[in-house]
Amino acid sequence: MAAGLGAWRRSRKPRRAPPSRERATIRREATASGARDEAATCSHTQPGGVTDETVLVTGGTGYLASWCIDLLLTRGYHVRTTVRDRSRRPVVAAQLPPGHPTARLTVVEADLGSDAGWAEAAAGCDFVLHVASPFPAVPPRDPAALVGLARDGTLRVLAAARTAGARRIVVTSSSSAAAYPAGPRPDPITEDHWTDPGHPLARAYVRSKTLAERAAWAYAREHGMTDRLTVIAPGTLLGPVRGRPSYSLSVVERLVTGRMPGLPRLGFPFTDVRDVAALHVAAMLSPDAAGERFLATGPFHWIEDVAAILRGQPGARVPSRRLPGPLVRAAALFDPALRQVVPELGEEFRFATGKARDVLDWNPRPLADTVLDCARSFVMARSLVKA
Ligand SMILES: NC(=O)c1ccc[n+]([C@@H]2O[C@H](COP(=O)([O-])OP(=O)(O)OC[C@H]3O[C@@H](n4cnc5c(N)ncnc54)[C@H](OP(=O)(O)O)[C@@H]3O)[C@@H](O)[C@H]2O)c1
Repeated sequence: MAAGLGAWRRSRKPRRAPPSRERATIRREATASGARDEAATCSHTQPGGVTDETVLVTGGTGYLASWCIDLLLTRGYHVRTTVRDRSRRPVVAAQLPPGHPTARLTVVEADLGSDAGWAEAAAGCDFVLHVASPFPAVPPRDPAALVGLARDGTLRVLAAARTAGARRIVVTSSSSAAAYPAGPRPDPITEDHWTDPGHPLARAYVRSKTLAERAAWAYAREHGMTDRLTVIAPGTLLGPVRGRPSYSLSVVERLVTGRMPGLPRLGFPFTDVRDVAALHVAAMLSPDAAGERFLATGPFHWIEDVAAILRGQPGARVPSRRLPGPLVRAAALFDPALRQVVPELGEEFRFATGKARDVLDWNPRPLADTVLDCARSFVMARSLVKA
């Protein structure tokens, strides 16, 4: 057992009072330690805590999707989710908490790269959360293929959702789709900004998210269904890990396991996966979210800030010295995951976070809660921190 697991500190900070019952529901979802805590607080489900409505969540094996599925099941929805490969079917339930009621969960097959399966996946669905997208941990061999897969896959999902008559389609974009516009970097970056795919910092993944989102809006306009589309553009996701860690978790994973010899001057708009899942469900339901794009980012933090939160926790082996840029660039030659982000050394991005807070009463938790819950889950799942 990992050293001092029970001693890992939980920070609990008071929050402002909710203005209404509906908003209070969203608030509790955004602040609870897990989606399962919310079963008794649902105001959108029918009496008895269940509903006949069905939600399609694409990419049920993914990190964010699994938290969305968890929350939707807890709130009594029927959930249909997709996997791209039959062999990945068991992963979906395995990533849900033990004992979670999965009778309302069905898993179907559909690949973003093919038309097959999407019509069946969306048939009869009231809502669609399109979360799946290729999110490579290393630079892709064929960047154009990555972009095409994300964009065409999004159009496939939208077409299927349209045919099925889904009332709301929430597409997961990325804050990176706003972060690199042409010209000087805006301060802050807002929902009105769009990444220029030709920007020197717009790597293949960033282009894939930008062009997929642009294609989604264009499709919605072309088919007169803009008011059925909402886009959520999250920052860098952290939080409890349940299965295969998403690429975004590598900062905390490396810090917890002592695999980061020093601290590169890199920073990200870290955001809690549970808060982003709650925001997807809020966006799915709110009339005010129709046709809107929401950044779902926390404040920008350097890796040093994450290290400071973890330092001193029992068993953590967190470095304190900053790695000089040339050393980080040299290390990136042998570390493809680092290579993807090394062009952003020293770059700081400030995002406006007011719209989701104002319109959907989003109240994401503090970074310390997110980082410690994330680290604790690595410890529990893998016993990575030794005595
Ligand atoms: N994590 C972040 O920091 C972050 C930040 C901003 C936005 N986002 C966006 O949030 C969404 C979820 O991210 P995540 O962190 O949960 O990523 P993830 O854990 O890597 O999940 C990605 C999901 O997409 C699926 N997928 C990939 N290629 C596919 C294909 N060709 N056909 C069908 N499914 C495919 C994956 O299936 P397999 O399991 O089979 O690979 C997986 O279910 C993505 O849209 C991502 O771009 C993530």
